[in-house]
Amino acid sequence: SPAAMRKKVLLMGRSGAGKTSMRSIIFANLIARETSRLSATLDVEYSTVRFMGDLVLNIWDCGGQEVFLESYFEAERDSIFRDVAILIYVFDIKSAEVEKEFINYERCIKAISRDGQDARVFCLVHKMDVVPPERRKVVFHAKESEIISRSRGLDTRCYPTSIWDETLYKAWSSIVYALVPNVEALGLALSGLADACDADEVVLFEKATFLVVSSRTRRSHRDKHRFEKMSNIVKQLKLACMGSASHLDSVQIANSRFRAILVPLTATTIVMIVTPRPGPAAGLCLLNAAVARP
Ligand code: GTP
Repeated sequence: SPAAMRKKVLLMGRSGAGKTSMRSIIFANLIARETSRLSATLDVEYSTVRFMGDLVLNIWDCGGQEVFLESYFEAERDSIFRDVAILIYVFDIKSAEVEKEFINYERCIKAISRDGQDARVFCLVHKMDVVPPERRKVVFHAKESEIISRSRGLDTRCYPTSIWDETLYKAWSSIVYALVPNVEALGLALSGLADACDADEVVLFEKATFLVVSSRTRRSHRDKHRFEKMSNIVKQLKLACMGSASHLDSVQIANSRFRAILVPLTATTIVMIVTPRPGPAAGLCLLNAAVARP
């Protein structure tokens, strides 16, 4: 549609780093253990995903085998690196060829910064599950500093990721957050809804991917990873329901301390309203969500 806003997303990294796995889990409902069956991507695989209605992501998943890399930097250079909104570079923490990966990374950075484009760069330090939990922080921060020092001053964010836990959702939520237009306006609207419900927190998820688009917190909570855990859990629930005849519409979870209600808000979003207990009735939250819908 003419109103659609197209953004080109380049997905790069060495062969076997996990690019196609991530893309398939987030956008195509693949489950983590099914990714072992994916074959190597030949040249570039294009996919288009519509996100939040008007945002269209053109994802270029660039197969990482040596033969293809040469061509990306030579013959195909102009078409690959032109008009890039976001570069997602996947570093495989299992890789033995660390320096080679960095050299290829630098070539990408050079190619996208050439025409003074203001592309954003997201680096995913991937397969963190293979690193023992107590070493993850150190390993990640060492990699992060090296990445930043090799990014030629470009706006670069790094995230530790694994397809086996919620870190994948954290990273991809940050990526789409950088792409969605009007996030500030959305945030304001969420504040209004949170106030009306006297909610502890209101979180907006994109419906198909369950990535977090925006959130408002009125009472702080100690679990920093609660949103992406929620994304992961609800996505699993949704996939489980798809296999049966049941259709997931809304969910309520409650105990003596809080209630969380998840309901569709717009055609492309689901809102989660978390209220304290004792607190406002569920019906009030549902009504406020309905009023907020337009
Ligand atoms: P090319 O298409 O050749 O460029 O590779 P790719 O980067 O697309 O890799 P792909 O997604 O095909 O994944 C390669 C292997 O890595 C698969 O067997 C995945 O199951 C595995 N893998 C992907 N993500 C993770 C992860 O977070 N942890 C672990 N341990 N393995 C992963």
